[in-house]
Amino acid sequence: MASDSGRVIIVGAGPAGLLLALLLAQEGVNVDVVEAQGEIDSRPRGAGYGPAAVTVLRRAGVLNTIIDRGLKPDSFTWRKLDGTVIGRLSGLNRKNDIGGFVMLTVYDLAVVLWEALNDLPNAKVHWGHKVVSVGQDELSAWVECENGESLKGDFVVGCDGGGSSVRKCLFGTDFPGKTLDSIIVATNVRYDFAKHGWEDSNWIVDPEHWAVVAHIERNGTWRVSYGERPGLSHEDLQNGMADKLRRILPGSPRPDQYKVERFSPYVLHQRCVERMRVGRILLAADAAHLNNPMGGLGLTTGISDVSGLADCLCGIFDGKAQVDILDEYDRIRRDIYWNVTNQVSTRNLERIMKTPEELIKSQDPFFSLLDNAEDPEVFDKIEKNDMQLLVDFKQFYKSTTNGLANGDMNLVPWDRLVRYVSAKTGKVRLGDPIMKGSTDIDQLVANCALKVWVLEGDDWVRAVRTGEIEEVREILSPLSATEVPIIRCTGLNYLAHIAESKMDIPKNPTLFIKPGQAIGHPRAPIPVPKLSQAKCDYEGELTIVIGKDCKNVTEKDALDFVAGYVAGNDVSCRDWQLEKEKAGMMPQWCFGKSFDKYAPIGPAIVSTKVLGDAGGLRLTTHVNGELRQEANTSDLCFGVRRLVSFFSTGQTLQAGSLIMTGTPDGVAAVMNPPKWLQDGDEVVVEIENIGKLRNIIKFE
Ligand SMILES: *[C@@H]1O[C@H](CO)[C@@H](O)[C@H](O)[C@H]1NC(C)=O
Ligand SMILES: *[C@@H]1O[C@H](CO)[C@@H](O)[C@H](O)[C@H]1NC(C)=O
Ligand SMILES: *[C@@H]1O[C@H](CO)[C@@H](O)[C@H](O)[C@H]1NC(C)=O
Ligand SMILES: *[C@@H]1O[C@H](CO)[C@@H](O)[C@H](O)[C@H]1NC(C)=O
Repeated sequence: MASDSGRVIIVGAGPAGLLLALLLAQEGVNVDVVEAQGEIDSRPRGAGYGPAAVTVLRRAGVLNTIIDRGLKPDSFTWRKLDGTVIGRLSGLNRKNDIGGFVMLTVYDLAVVLWEALNDLPNAKVHWGHKVVSVGQDELSAWVECENGESLKGDFVVGCDGGGSSVRKCLFGTDFPGKTLDSIIVATNVRYDFAKHGWEDSNWIVDPEHWAVVAHIERNGTWRVSYGERPGLSHEDLQNGMADKLRRILPGSPRPDQYKVERFSPYVLHQRCVERMRVGRILLAADAAHLNNPMGGLGLTTGISDVSGLADCLCGIFDGKAQVDILDEYDRIRRDIYWNVTNQVSTRNLERIMKTPEELIKSQDPFFSLLDNAEDPEVFDKIEKNDMQLLVDFKQFYKSTTNGLANGDMNLVPWDRLVRYVSAKTGKVRLGDPIMKGSTDIDQLVANCALKVWVLEGDDWVRAVRTGEIEEVREILSPLSATEVPIIRCTGLNYLAHIAESKMDIPKNPTLFIKPGQAIGHPRAPIPVPKLSQAKCDYEGELTIVIGKDCKNVTEKDALDFVAGYVAGNDVSCRDWQLEKEKAGMMPQWCFGKSFDKYAPIGPAIVSTKVLGDAGGLRLTTHVNGELRQEANTSDLCFGVRRLVSFFSTGQTLQAGSLIMTGTPDGVAAVMNPPKWLQDGDEVVVEIENIGKLRNIIKFE
């Protein structure tokens, strides 16, 4: 994706801001999150996520952690004030593979998102930065903070909640909609609900004492949110709490029979801004719209907003969408608010403000569904309703050559590709390493500290990020032996080496081949068969990875077919290459270079997007720590473009095939006396920005 283009300033480190940051940063966009508070807000707010939100959280790679730390409710129950059940929906999580419902407090969600964001080198949260103004010109947008700092990017997104300072900068106090005639008091209560047969989420249907009672924490904390009349002072509300909880909680407990951990009254609104986009400044989630919390629609709508906005912004940075896709974001997300969020949340609240008798008589279509609560179609219907909140903005992609995008069509969607064994499942998968500034994948693996963005797709060329992050147990050759049809190798190719060998500069590259099955893993032994042990040699080489079949390619077009580069070692057995006794009258290159594992490659394929034509890179080979080869890839007589063009003349270079570009001076054979590789020797080929390929020689 857009590794270096694109910077977004997000205001607000609540769940919406952090999730947007994560979705963007995972796609390579640079993100600064600016938060007025010094830490994550811990006031009691929402806690429930429906199928639409769950889909987005899965895509962001955090769903498993959320499920580990939260709860998966199985039922919703509607009750009279005396606890009698009047409607029930259970088996919510029977379809575990899709959607589903999850409970985790907004605070804990923000912590999970913040932890995931910390893994990414291109995202930063600036705590204690209160935004006082926003600004923009034709090409950028910025925020200015109270402490005098300002941050500038391509776009600014206000995710700073109901009291949004970004919204106020744009629209002043204008926030169309209405304030409701009731307020809600949210409390966190510890009480033995299970003793009374209560579980998961419960709605108390009563005109005066309407409430929601939901299990929100594994440690036994429940959220009890009940309605109150507006205009009461904080003190009145606190004094009235014991009476409210006695009426609402099963068993009519006295205050010494439960513990209130938190108490927080808030006013209810149904409001939405007139525009969610003003040029390069955008609004999302509570900063853009508010609704009553019945059904958790505020959270789910906010999560759906940022999911759509992430797709729009990534599309712009990747050259797949024009900037005006943001008008679609504005139009559709406001429509979703008014058509779905506002209407459903209003009905959810009205439903529990009725008397139970009115509700049963009302023929409320949702409530009537509960008559058939065991019917799988009911779940499908509920899921479908919720999924309306999520809109796929990729449908509005249309490619562009102007605007912000770099416009380049890249052959591969990843920056670096490793094939690895998952620390968690032991499965072999593809990943894009999370580098955090270092490029030493070998060292990260040695320290058990390598994490990757998981890649999946039809094959390695098309593998895209799933959003999941995994820890790596072990890395393998980035392509398996069966994925490499052939390895083309270049003879003498470094100018200094040619000069030193007192040979003329060749007119054309010299080609020999190794079979694909000679591929070996990084950090693995290279087995040396008995007949090859006398004169075993190394050749550190920049290795080109072809990503797309090609023939007769011009030098100009050559990079369009190159997926990337990897470090390679063209392990060679010199006596079988050169000595008449063994090789015959002519030197032969293939037999003594084609033993199994004589072509280790690694640690990662680094894409052309990162390395271009791979010029100017330092290449070294060390044996047992001793520097043997040192070169600069700019010193190649035939560079990458020439090799691809020449080798493809009249013959197809197949996707997955490799071109080893030749080795510089310093192989064992030219030393005096030669220092042939011995059993147990460690050979490390290192190429700047690609990494280290480390192997141990193992005599069989
Ligand atoms: C339960 O967990 C919540 C959130 O982690 C915490 O605020 C609360 O103090 C915990 N309660 C107890 C009794 O441990
Ligand atoms: C919202 O409702 C309006 C009016 O019925 C309709 O034109 C529009 O397409 C709806 N939008 C969405 C996103 O559902
Ligand atoms: C390659 O070039 C030859 C002649 O130079 C031509 O006959 C052949 O069709 C070309 N093949 C491709 C795939 O362009
Ligand atoms: C390699 O050579 C190029 C061209 O002379 C130079 O710009 C580059 O800095 C060199 N790289 C290293 C690692 O020496």
